[in-house]
Amino acid sequence: MLAAMSATTPHPAQAINDDIARASPALLALLSELGREAVYPPDIPHQAAQARGKRFNATIGQITDGHGRVLALPSLERQVSGLEGDHNAALLYSPIEGRESLRRRWRGRHRPSSPAASPSSLPLVVAGLTHGLALVADLFCDRGRAVVVPVPFWGNYRQIFALRRGGRIVPADIYRAGRFDPAALRAPLDALPEGEPALVLLNLPSNPVGYSPTASESDHLVEALAGAAARRPLLVVCDDAYAGLVYEDDIPRESLFWRLGSIDERLLAVKIDGCTKELVFFGGRVAFLTFPFEPDLPVTRALESKTKCLLRASVGSPVAVSQEIALATLEHAGVEAEIEQVRQVLARRYRALREALERADPRLLRPLPFNSGCFALLELPEGLDAEAVRLRLLAEFDTGVVASPPRHLRIAYCSVAEEAIPELVSRIEAGIAAESS
Ligand SMILES: Cc1ncc(COP(=O)(O)O)c(C=O)c1O
Repeated sequence: MLAAMSATTPHPAQAINDDIARASPALLALLSELGREAVYPPDIPHQAAQARGKRFNATIGQITDGHGRVLALPSLERQVSGLEGDHNAALLYSPIEGRESLRRRWRGRHRPSSPAASPSSLPLVVAGLTHGLALVADLFCDRGRAVVVPVPFWGNYRQIFALRRGGRIVPADIYRAGRFDPAALRAPLDALPEGEPALVLLNLPSNPVGYSPTASESDHLVEALAGAAARRPLLVVCDDAYAGLVYEDDIPRESLFWRLGSIDERLLAVKIDGCTKELVFFGGRVAFLTFPFEPDLPVTRALESKTKCLLRASVGSPVAVSQEIALATLEHAGVEAEIEQVRQVLARRYRALREALERADPRLLRPLPFNSGCFALLELPEGLDAEAVRLRLLAEFDTGVVASPPRHLRIAYCSVAEEAIPELVSRIEAGIAAESS
């Protein structure tokens, strides 16, 4: 419940919370305390946006020539002079929600043409996927809230949801017995008290496993989530960091977000994706947060208001120069072909790794199912410690991989040349053999 400001003044977030409640009581139930309190304040950025285009605009603390052009240092301006985007926009503050043309382009790029696809907002620009996830955690995760995550998972989820927000990570053993089992998601959800709101983190293609479900596994996953939502408000976070990096023809490439939006009124999905891997733009820190509502609805504006409030209170505004770079890149006619070329490079490494692993001794290593993304995960024999193997590989085999304790090693084949992959696998095999003896 929100405390009123006084007997006569309601809490500033009351009106947008009412908009949320009208559109979706489940969404209101899912908001964290911070999420309920947050509302974009009508302060400087808001007032500056209203003054845009006025003859005299003395609102925002940007240093300009008095006509909206940044008073750029020549040495700094030279650094952006090769940029095809808008140089002025690159050096000034970005709108808090991000550059509108970039938001529109990203939405258009991802939205499937099928009329059955979930509704989707104009994505908000965030400072990398991690930041998008942290905003979702701020909005929807409170101390003790169950956050169901397929294991093994990207370790930073712990920092984002458990350490920062006090969420309770509930592992789902979805790769049990060496195959992807969507039903494994249901058991930890069904074990929660009826009606208790919960979060599910879905990262497909996944890190660290490198797996994307087949069409029929996707159907079962959607069914399992819909079944779980019949018993509680459920927020499904689609972390689509590795969107599009799929290497088998029969594996769907589209995010599950587009299927989850309208299957049950108690199931809300959010989509987080971005330029980090999709445009191979790691340093740019441009990512997007999409809600399952059409643009300009009161509920969409309410969620945007809350997100912008929290974004303004953390990074201030998203990085302008990277947005200009991303937008100019996406406007190039050939960019999708270039993205496809990168996918093909990774597909060749993926095949090289599959072949090398098929030749490896199954008594030493067993890969979990993998078909997409950037990684493969190897299970070590019982009794071996992943960290000890990793240290041995570093010390004796000139080889670095990531330990996923207690018994998995992650290979990031996205950063190994195709021709080096067979040798990489033989060294890993030799390191495991040495550690076993
Ligand atoms: C599953 C997953 N989500 C999110 C991220 C974070 O992406 P970013 O670098 O854009 O913050 C990563 C990065 O490795 C990831 O593997």
